[in-house]
Amino acid sequence: PAWPLVLGIETSCDETACAVVDGTGTVRAEAVLSQLDEHAPFGGVVPEIAARSHLEHVDRLMTRVMTQAGATYGELDGVAATAGPGLIGGVMVGLMTAKAVALAHGKPLLAVNHLAAHALTARLTDTVPFPYLLLLVSGGHCQILVVEAVDRFRRLGTTIDDAAGEAFDKVAKMLGLGYPGGPAVERWAARGNAGRFAFPRPLKGRPGCDFSFSGLKTAVRQAAESLPPGPFAEADLADLAAGFQAALIDSLGDRLEHGLQAFTASHPEGRHLVVAGGVAANSALRAALLARAEAHGLALVAPPPRLCTDNAVMVAWAGIERLRQGLIDPLDVAPRPRWPL
Ligand code: KG4
Ligand code: ZN
Repeated sequence: PAWPLVLGIETSCDETACAVVDGTGTVRAEAVLSQLDEHAPFGGVVPEIAARSHLEHVDRLMTRVMTQAGATYGELDGVAATAGPGLIGGVMVGLMTAKAVALAHGKPLLAVNHLAAHALTARLTDTVPFPYLLLLVSGGHCQILVVEAVDRFRRLGTTIDDAAGEAFDKVAKMLGLGYPGGPAVERWAARGNAGRFAFPRPLKGRPGCDFSFSGLKTAVRQAAESLPPGPFAEADLADLAAGFQAALIDSLGDRLEHGLQAFTASHPEGRHLVVAGGVAANSALRAALLARAEAHGLALVAPPPRLCTDNAVMVAWAGIERLRQGLIDPLDVAPRPRWPL
């Protein structure tokens, strides 16, 4: 059924996003406003700029999606917003906006964990049943989770330093490829020789599912510095990118292998490996994941990149899932900059 109709708001990083989604998973309207241009001169996201920008844009964006959805606030069954984890200034803006709508129109408030929203997206796009194994790889997060229910997650591993996307971005910066770096590194890597530089595979062979990428990043920096001074030759750039990407994917795969073993042992009824987050857009990574999933008899589900990167559809959907379970939050719920699953 179309019940419930939920407005979702996402403001935890550098995207201001709003969406109206219904219980069938139909996206009635959505809008994402990227702040990329505002942060680009600084080579990364500046929290203060992000918060001010969310504040400036969120009302108009929300009004726009409501109009496009042809819905009034009175017709909503709930209002969902990311309540964390993320940059606190931005999270406050989105959550306060949702609280105001919920209060003014007497609607349930749904305080959504941003990671849970990423985790549940596959149920919107592919109706994946619980339980499933999730690899979440974004600019801010790198985790392996067993998703058991709407509000039950088992974290098998996380990064002990950089997130995967962060490693892509930092390497891109050191190679002069701009921000965000993932897509550019992938393009250069496609024409490079991954075997020329012997980059490390951090934590490979060690037990567990934790990640580490800072040693790899340092190795790329040292390799880049060992080249003749001046601008990179195209072949060098391609080989550095290819070597880095191969090492990162190899390292992700090694850690995920342990996750797959643990998951198939503890949840033999599970049938799916889901990948989410901006790095899931990387086609070399997708190919590697597909092979690993199939080796364990699991299907790989990768939501479209538009729903893998930060958006409000996933927040509205997580709100829908919570509302269906009766998981409604009080209006004084606090924003949480840190909020592990
Ligand atoms: O999920 P997302 O949009 O935002 C966060 O929640 O962080 O992920 C953004 C990250 C960036 O680090 C970006 O470089 C990376 O995803 N990314 C990629 C690719 N496209 C985006 N990394 C590798 N290959 C790509 N094709
Ligand atoms: Zn995210």
